Amino acid sequence: MISFIEEGQYFELTNNKITYLMKVEAGFLTHLYFGKKITFSKHLTYPKTVRSFSPYLKEEAWEISLNQLLLEYPTAGSGDFRTPALEVRFKDGSTVTNLQYEKYEILPEAIKSADLPKAFATEKEAAETLVIYLKDDLKQLQVKLYYTIFENNGVLVRFSEITNLSLEELQLEKALSLSLDFPKTDFECLQLHGSWANERQLTREKITSGKKVFSSLRGASSHQQSPFLALVTPATTEFSGNSYSFSFVYSGNHEEFVEQDAFKQLRVGMGIASQQFLWPLKAGESFQTPEVLVNYSDEGLNGMSQNFHHFLREHVISPKFKTQERPILVNNWEATYFNFNEEKILAIVEKAHELGLEMFVLDDGWFGKRDDDHTSLGDWYLDKHKLPNGLEKIASDLKEKGMGFGLWFEPEMISEKSDLYQKHPDWILQIPGRNKSLSRHQMVLDFSRREVWENIYEQMATILRQVPISYVKWDFNRHLTEVYSEGLAANEQGTVFHRYILGLYGFLQRLNEEFPELLIEGCSGGGGRFDCGMLYYTPQIWTSDNTDGVCRLFIQTGTSLVFPPNTMGSHISAVPNHQVGRSTSLEFRKNVAMAGVFGYELDLGKMSLEEQAEVKEQVAFYKAHRKLLQFGNFYRLKSPFSGNECAWLFVDEEKNTGLVFYFRILATPEDPVETLKIPYLTEDASYMVNGEVYSASELAEVGLFIPPLGGDFATVSFELKKI
Ligand code: GLA
Repeated sequence: MISFIEEGQYFELTNNKITYLMKVEAGFLTHLYFGKKITFSKHLTYPKTVRSFSPYLKEEAWEISLNQLLLEYPTAGSGDFRTPALEVRFKDGSTVTNLQYEKYEILPEAIKSADLPKAFATEKEAAETLVIYLKDDLKQLQVKLYYTIFENNGVLVRFSEITNLSLEELQLEKALSLSLDFPKTDFECLQLHGSWANERQLTREKITSGKKVFSSLRGASSHQQSPFLALVTPATTEFSGNSYSFSFVYSGNHEEFVEQDAFKQLRVGMGIASQQFLWPLKAGESFQTPEVLVNYSDEGLNGMSQNFHHFLREHVISPKFKTQERPILVNNWEATYFNFNEEKILAIVEKAHELGLEMFVLDDGWFGKRDDDHTSLGDWYLDKHKLPNGLEKIASDLKEKGMGFGLWFEPEMISEKSDLYQKHPDWILQIPGRNKSLSRHQMVLDFSRREVWENIYEQMATILRQVPISYVKWDFNRHLTEVYSEGLAANEQGTVFHRYILGLYGFLQRLNEEFPELLIEGCSGGGGRFDCGMLYYTPQIWTSDNTDGVCRLFIQTGTSLVFPPNTMGSHISAVPNHQVGRSTSLEFRKNVAMAGVFGYELDLGKMSLEEQAEVKEQVAFYKAHRKLLQFGNFYRLKSPFSGNECAWLFVDEEKNTGLVFYFRILATPEDPVETLKIPYLTEDASYMVNGEVYSASELAEVGLFIPPLGGDFATVSFELKKI
């Protein structure tokens, strides 16, 4: 998959889908090509165009200017006036780095790390890694660029490692994981942004001259900006066209940008946000950046998502959960909020069992004196006042019924009103003497300090060791402010944001090691930390606190750009909806929720008997189709971001069975007849669709005519069976 071509000094990474080409040019590592697999003729060169106002490094090489070279890991200060990947401040105060190619290594594997989530190779899809060494001789600074390519995959992985080989300390002011230059191409940019309850909204815009930066400085990947970016050609649709897309395997501050230079070349960058980042590197020390997934597809946005979905399932999500079916759960949050007791909980369990559900999740409010959100975070021991017979009573009740038990934690947080805060007021992120900003009445524990997260770990593990808990919902309900650690020296304070995330990953890693059977659902006020880094430790994530069916069409469509449906927690909740007040039918909410990891978030006992009967049917239907819905391939047939409709298709790997959920958001007078084309089936086959036989070509080319649907928020589903 990886080769170095001595003559011409080329690096070629290729598998059956993609090719990535680089060339050493006048000592610089330059970029030549990334995209669809090609046959490389081994003499490609990007022209050296001499331009005015282009500094050159040497009189004898006056035609080589960093001003216009396509570079793999650019630095500023010697003629490249675009955005650098690396910024270093040396002891003498200078900030110019000149990275020259030194050597390379090819490793027959993906890189492992104890500290950061890393995509791994599998027996089915092996990996090779190219490590390219660059060096600034004067300052004895080494940069290693890592490129891991996997068999059969449109996704490759990049990151960098910076090592101080000198005897003097330096300051790392910025170290991106990826920089990628493109020759002039007419691209549009796709990004996912939003807010609480409105995550991953899709925006597509033209790229013009200048730079557009996206970022989160919240200490989390955030609801506000997903660590994702894609470049697509203007003709790219869901079904055809080219895309280059990037997803960061990281859960903290991030920045990504696209920059069009004066010559219409493009530079894309992605990495830890440089704002509030300052990492001192002592002599001999290294800094490793998190990974970026770099994805090329020529099969439209569905092709892009297929690549990501496949890659995440095969190389990022814990193999333990790759094929393990996820239980249908009921969560008591929207049913009771903080107001519950044993009787209420056992009644919910009873009803859930009667209707065929498989797990009960006890959400916030079971610990300390947590009757509202002002107290007790940090005190992870049972509130006997609410549950006098302990978690054990609920556990034994569930066990008797053959159901699983899930429990909510928010390990990174602390309430002022807590025993932990009385004992350790210095354990929070805070600047001595300065006001401490609150959010949801809580503060953030300093997870950059090991003794802090280890204390919480022990509290949490004590419960998990005593009570048979098979699922944990890991929440994170505020962002970081006054970021400063009392465990670090003044000159190390610029490392706290990243060390915090390393602490979080360390905690999750240990949890997974001690409790390998435990299914952890990530959560951050809904989907505020829905990223590939969290996914490495938590195979599913609560997609949004917004459970309204219509809003979820958008949120789940946006999320599906990168993430497969079986990573998206998705529940039916009560109407009128608690977040937006809208009422939609149970059928509508079901079709939306089944397109994720299905569950309920309401008091089942308060539903009418007819509704309960419907729930029983839904549960039975989901169980019968769970394999398809959780492990099948997922395609967007219509996007709500482009109009009034949304349609999602699930097809199993062999294309024997399929399920389509179609939604029409608002009714209009004299509705047009809508057509739903269904590609992605076996070409020459015929399919039974809701009792009628159609050929695959009919379904793909003519499509299904959607029957008249009355009223707003209408839905219909289609079951496909190959005959
Ligand atoms: C967050 C989560 C919710 C719920 C509450 C509990 O908002 O996203 O699902 O768990 O916390 O406080």
